[in-house]
Amino acid sequence: MKILETRKITKSFGALTAVNGVSLAIEAGSLHSIIGPNGAGKTTLFNLLTGTFPPTSGSIIFDQKEITGTPANRIAHLGLARSYQRTTVFPAFSLFDNAWVAAFATGKSWNGLMWKPSGGFPEASERARQALHDVGLEGKSTQLAREISHGEQRQLELAIALAAAPRVLLLDEPAAGLSPDETRKMVALVRALKGRYTIVLIEHKMDIIMSVSDRISVMHFGSLIAEGTPGEIQKNPEVRRAYLGGVAA
Ligand SMILES: Nc1ncnc2c1ncn2[C@@H]1O[C@H](COP(=O)(O)OP(=O)(O)OP(=O)(O)O)[C@@H](O)[C@H]1O
Ligand SMILES: [Mg+2]
Repeated sequence: MKILETRKITKSFGALTAVNGVSLAIEAGSLHSIIGPNGAGKTTLFNLLTGTFPPTSGSIIFDQKEITGTPANRIAHLGLARSYQRTTVFPAFSLFDNAWVAAFATGKSWNGLMWKPSGGFPEASERARQALHDVGLEGKSTQLAREISHGEQRQLELAIALAAAPRVLLLDEPAAGLSPDETRKMVALVRALKGRYTIVLIEHKMDIIMSVSDRISVMHFGSLIAEGTPGEIQKNPEVRRAYLGGVAA
């Protein structure tokens, strides 16, 4: 079953077409990676999927329903959660509070603007606790986000996405800027989440992509130039050209 689909989706910024007629279908339960050189339009595609801005044309279908033009906060409630290419945590909040805010914001316990101490929302608290557990940070939940390492901040970001109880998890370069050791940890985490969530992964590190993906879509100058299994993509001459600047490998 397809859980997420784009049909000929296009996004132009003035004269620049960042995403150009992309039709993509994500199978429920799969790990589907999006790769492509810098500026290919990968992050812009995520911004379209999450409703950060509407597409110039084309449509987005999530769980059989058209969601094109739906604002970002509504899309988060429908179950599309993302992590960002750059770290986006609240540095002065504890890890728990960072995860709790995400759980609360997308939870059913939202009750107008009435504010209560976080202890008053057991469902959000439990989701926050579980999300920190899933990324291996439950032992540090009372620490402030600014006190943990860069690698742990990326793990926290993942926890923030998980706390929103997503059905599809969009990960934009979760291993960006990580040391080899931290990268291994992150890859293990993504592997552990595979199967529990439908995951769409943007990543530059090819060894990661080739080892975790069920399917790979390749973007180049805003367009989709190939789609297939890791084995098919590795052999694809057009993909090799896109990456090697015209030198066929
Ligand atoms: N909000 C925006 N306004 C104007 N141009 C934008 C905007 N967002 C992205 N672009 C442009 O769209 C193109 C695609 O950018 P995008 O960030 O989607 O690429 P990417 O594939 O994620 O690249 P990278 O691998 O470097 O993260 C780039 O030329 C970028 O400068
Ligand atoms: Mg990007």
